[in-house]
Amino acid sequence: MATQEEIDFIRRLPKAELHVHIEGTLEPELMFKLAERNKIEIPYKSVEEVRAAYQFSNLQDFLDIYYAGAGILQKEQGFYDLAAEYFEHAAADGVVDSRIFFDPQTHTDRGISYDAVIQGLVRAAHDAAEKFDITFSYVHSFLRHLTEEAAFESLAMAEPYLDDKDFYRIVGVGLDSSEVGNPPKKFARVIAKAVEMDLEENSIHAAEEGPPKYVRQALKILKPKKADRKSKTLKPIIIDHGNRAMEDPALVASLREDGVVLTVCPLSNLKLRVVTDISKHPIRKMLDAGLKATINSDDPAYFGGYIVDNFVVLLDADEIDLRDCVTLARNSIEASNMGHNRKMHYLDVLQEMEDSLPLRPVAGAGGQAPRLQS
Ligand code: ADE
Ligand code: ZN
Repeated sequence: MATQEEIDFIRRLPKAELHVHIEGTLEPELMFKLAERNKIEIPYKSVEEVRAAYQFSNLQDFLDIYYAGAGILQKEQGFYDLAAEYFEHAAADGVVDSRIFFDPQTHTDRGISYDAVIQGLVRAAHDAAEKFDITFSYVHSFLRHLTEEAAFESLAMAEPYLDDKDFYRIVGVGLDSSEVGNPPKKFARVIAKAVEMDLEENSIHAAEEGPPKYVRQALKILKPKKADRKSKTLKPIIIDHGNRAMEDPALVASLREDGVVLTVCPLSNLKLRVVTDISKHPIRKMLDAGLKATINSDDPAYFGGYIVDNFVVLLDADEIDLRDCVTLARNSIEASNMGHNRKMHYLDVLQEMEDSLPLRPVAGAGGQAPRLQS
């Protein structure tokens, strides 16, 4: 088990969270508060009963409960409260930059205005940025179980908010929801349209449950064409999850060559039975293959933990050690879109923290990975 000192070390590592769904941060306590405020009946008697219901056998099982939960969100203030609570957790866990997905269609299809959603989320983010050392960006995600046409309609709703990039910070589009049977190519045209609208920091959930070929499709869609690129700095290509890419050695080689960032979510993978056991998690193979893996919480209210818990579950299982934790945090800071000086500062902090760790035993000499004692 990780010692308290090790957990504190992980918490102090400056990290960027690149993959968190704001609707997935809805804790049962807030669910009850909002249900009362909005006079909505929920089919649970207590917070404990809600938590007990969070047993999933696959992604779809989870999504059914997750979309039902999101139905509690009705007004701008609810979205504010949701995001404000997430930022409290993130800041306490040492997150210094959050790249947050939101699912506009989940709300606009119920008659909630895009404006109520984005104003609440962004107001909370600006308040958090003032309160904590945290920066943020939002990623407008398309629900892939819906049609391409619906995604185009949803993208059009974002348009009025794209001019004020400093305030709203909608920086890209994402692709989430039911993966198998809804391949990335179904949304290639709408993502191309988003790029034309200057939304360049896009990512696609791929090979969470779906086959490696979905990652190949996603890479084709996300790889910026030089002629189309408006921003001067080259942004990394981001694949959300990417677990099953490890089944395809040639794909692994191209992910390494292109420095593709994988936003890995261990507790999500466990809860959704993407892996049967944490010792079967692909993170070790990803790191050994030199891939730019990062650790993220995905839907922390549903999967039993925020970002630090996601590091700790891997450390507890001896899948990673503290030096790996520094590498994973470094990958996240490098991949984030924070300003250059801020990035350099956190990379320096990470270097200092890495230098403070005991050395790893020399290969072949035996011995355990170094631990910190409480
Ligand atoms: N929406 C929220 N969490 C998700 C996940 N893990 N995969 C796909 N869609 C999601
Ligand atoms: Zn996700």
